[in-house]
This record gives sequence, C-alpha cells and structure tokens, in this order.
Amino acid sequence: MKKHTKNLLAIALLFSVFFTVNAQDGAKLYKQNCAACHKIDKVSIGPPLKGVFEKWKEAGEEEMLFEWVANPTDLHDSGKSKMAKEVWDFSPMTMTPMAHLSKEEVAAIFKFADTPPVAKEEPKTETKGTTKTKKVAPVGFSTGTIVFLIGIIGFLLIALLVLMNGLKALKNKDNGGNKIKYEEEGFGFLTKSVAIEDEDSILLDHNYDGIQELDNVLPPWWVWMFYATIIFTFIYWGLYQTFGVWPLQEEAYEIEMETAEKEVYAYKEANGLLISAETVTQLTDEASLAAGKEIFDGTCAACHKADGSGLVGPNLTDKYWIYGGAIGDVFTSISEGRANGMPSHKSQFNELQIQQIGSYVKSLKFAEGKEPEGDLEK
Ligand code: HEC
Ligand code: HEC
Repeated sequence: MKKHTKNLLAIALLFSVFFTVNAQDGAKLYKQNCAACHKIDKVSIGPPLKGVFEKWKEAGEEEMLFEWVANPTDLHDSGKSKMAKEVWDFSPMTMTPMAHLSKEEVAAIFKFADTPPVAKEEPKTETKGTTKTKKVAPVGFSTGTIVFLIGIIGFLLIALLVLMNGLKALKNKDNGGNKIKYEEEGFGFLTKSVAIEDEDSILLDHNYDGIQELDNVLPPWWVWMFYATIIFTFIYWGLYQTFGVWPLQEEAYEIEMETAEKEVYAYKEANGLLISAETVTQLTDEASLAAGKEIFDGTCAACHKADGSGLVGPNLTDKYWIYGGAIGDVFTSISEGRANGMPSHKSQFNELQIQQIGSYVKSLKFAEGKEPEGDLEK
C-alpha cells in the first residue's frame, strides 16, 4: 500500500504543477480580471491594453504600472506618476484595484495583451447557411503543452512501475511472505480473493461480537478501473483544456447555437421564407390574398373588424397610419406587434404568411369605421 501512496503523491504533484503554470497564463488572467472593462485593441470602459506596457516604459514608469494595477487611486493620489495623471480622466469610473495579482501575473497579462493569439475563428462568410465555419483549435507549444506532455510521460512511467510490481506480485502470489492460494477458477483473476480453504491466513485479529474481517487485497478489476480513470483524466484534460481539440461547454453551446441558426436560415432559404421588413414586397396574386384573408378573418378581425374598419385596433383601410402604411411597416406591425395592444404574431405565422396578411391588409378597400388615427399618407 505504501507504494501506491507514493505513486498517488507523485500524480498529485504533477497535477498541482500543472495548475500553477496554468494560473499564470496571461490570457486566462486577463479574461478573469480585466476583460469586463478592457479590450485588447479597442476602447471599452477602460482604454485598450495593447501597447500600454511600452507606453509606460517609455515614460520611465514601468514599475509604477504595477502599482497602478494594484491600486490605481493610490498611485494617482501620490502624484508621482505622470501616466496615472494622464489616464485618470479617461472615464468617470475608477478601475478596480487588482492587488491580489502578483507582479508576474500582471506582467503575463501585459505580455498577452501585446501578443494576442492568432484569430481562432475563420471569418464568417456572407453566404450564411451554406458554408460551415469550423472552429480551428489553437495548437501551440505553450508552457501548458509542455507540462502536459511531461505529465503524460511521468504518468506512463508510474503506470509502468505499478504494472511491473503488480505482475511480479501476481506471479509470486506473495502476501507478506506467506504463500497464499488465490481463487483461480472462473473470474478469480479479477477479484484475487483468497481461496476459502486458505482464508485463515488473512483473517484479522480483531473480533467484534463475532464479526471478523478478511484482509483481501483490493480486487484487480477495481484497481485497473481506478488507474483507467486517471489515464482518462489526462486524455480528457489534454483534449479539452490544453489542446482544445474539442470545445468546452460554453464554446460547444455557441457552436450549437450557430449551427442551429444556420439550419434555420437554410430552412427558410429553401422554403422561400427569407422575408423581412426590409425585403418584403406586396403580393397581388389571388391565391396569396385569399390565404391572407383567411388568416385575417380568423385572427385579426376580432380587433380590426372583418372589413378592417377598426374596433379595438385602428382602421386599417384609411390612409392614416400610426406606424406607417408601407408594406414593410405593416409587416413589422404584424410580426413584432405594437406598443398599445397590437400583439406580435411571429410565433404564430411564418414570414410568408405575414407577407400574405400584410398584402391583404394593403388590398383592403376603404371602409367607414373608426376615426382616423396617426398620420395621413398618400
Ligand atoms: C471595473 C473596470 C476595470 C477593470 C476590471 C480593470 N480596469 Fe484597468 N482601467 C479601467 C479604467 C476605467 C481605466 C481608465 C482610468 C480611469 O478612468 O480612471 C483603466 C486604466 C488602466 C490602465 C492604464 C491604461 C493607459 O492607457 O495608461 C491599465 C494599465 C489598466 N487599466 C490595466 C488593467 C488590468 C491589467 C486589469 C486586470 C488585471 C484591469 N485594468 C482591470 C477600468 C478597469
Ligand atoms: C388583440 C387585438 C388585436 C389583434 C388580434 C390584432 N391587432 Fe392589429 N392592432 C391592435 C391595436 C390596439 C393596434 C394599435 C397599436 C398602437 O397604437 O400601438 C393595432 C395596430 C395594427 C397595425 C398598425 C396600424 C397603424 O396605423 O400603423 C396593423 C398593420 C395591424 N394592427 C394589423 C393587424 C393584423 C394583420 C392582425 C392579425 C394578424 C392584427 N393586427 C391583430 C389590436 C389588434
């Protein structure tokens, strides 16, 4: 058992080394601490971080930059920093002091800011729906990669050692110097439990009200599975975290949403549903108007009356429009709804149907009804 403990300790050590190195990863630190207010090369709440290090260095205030990050207000109020004074009025907001970050960590952030990784995404192509944008995993030879490889090699060495020890033990069937008969029939090799005739040899001394304990070794199937989970950890870790071969949950979600959007787009394209308020045209063919009328009578007449002359909703047949009488405006009124009681219909009808309803509305003959509302349009 001692040997196992040592092996586990070695593995734990490798894990912790890996985590420490990862924690100094500038990109991560930047995301965790600064990205809420800063962008690398664009103005956000705070100024862009790219080139800031050089700027302060040239002004001879390289050291003060670290003081700034640790506590901006202190540095500014001390009056010794020209750069702090310059940037102070950038925003009415004061930057959060980041005193919990070590100098190395802050340096890593600026290093990251000055050498942003190559774009991970291919530019999105305009022809949505037809092209697949695949996220390319950033395979680089970073510190993380190296430590990961060392981890793997270390682990394999340990695994080999354990395996050799295990094989030796299995061969000798040695348990504390006693030759012990293990169960060999059937699946005995999986459990390595002691044969019943030989159980006395592993019976422990203590006896609680007649209950005694057999000191069987851990069943090999269990031990193998345990080691398999450790191997799995490294594989999983490498593929997801270090090499980014497969996306993490958040990214996977984004990719799925993107794919779904494209599918929706492709579906609409294939079914002639790519109609928006900007592109909609007024239909005049009878079939479309009849389809529009059918929906209008069933859905809209309750509020606009069957002839469109208005009830709860305004008269749709006059030349007065609150939100505009162009087909695009009518399309938006129907699709998105309007503030004072006009419901949205986009979950009920698809774009083509809304185009048909809108066209029908536009085809309505003037009917005496509700007083005009809105502006007169010709
Ligand atoms: C809560 C928002 C916020 C966060 C978080 C934040 N900053 Fe700032 N930072 C600002 C603002 C705002 C300024 C501009 C100074 C001002 O208006 O007081 C600034 C200014 C700076 C400057 C001076 C830039 C220049 O052009 O001289 C540096 C350097 C800087 N931040 C680094 C960081 C780093 C590194 C982090 C993360 C560890 C960080 N900031 C996190 C808001 C923030
Ligand atoms: C629950 C009642 C109700 C239903 C159902 C309803 N509307 Fe309306 N509609 C209104 C109200 C009320 C307004 C005025 C909204 C405002 O002033 O903000 C309105 C406004 C409109 C407008 C804008 C008129 C303008 O002057 O700009 C159009 C177009 C319209 N509706 C068409 C329809 C169509 C087509 C349907 C059926 C798909 C429909 N409405 C269903 C109540 C309704």
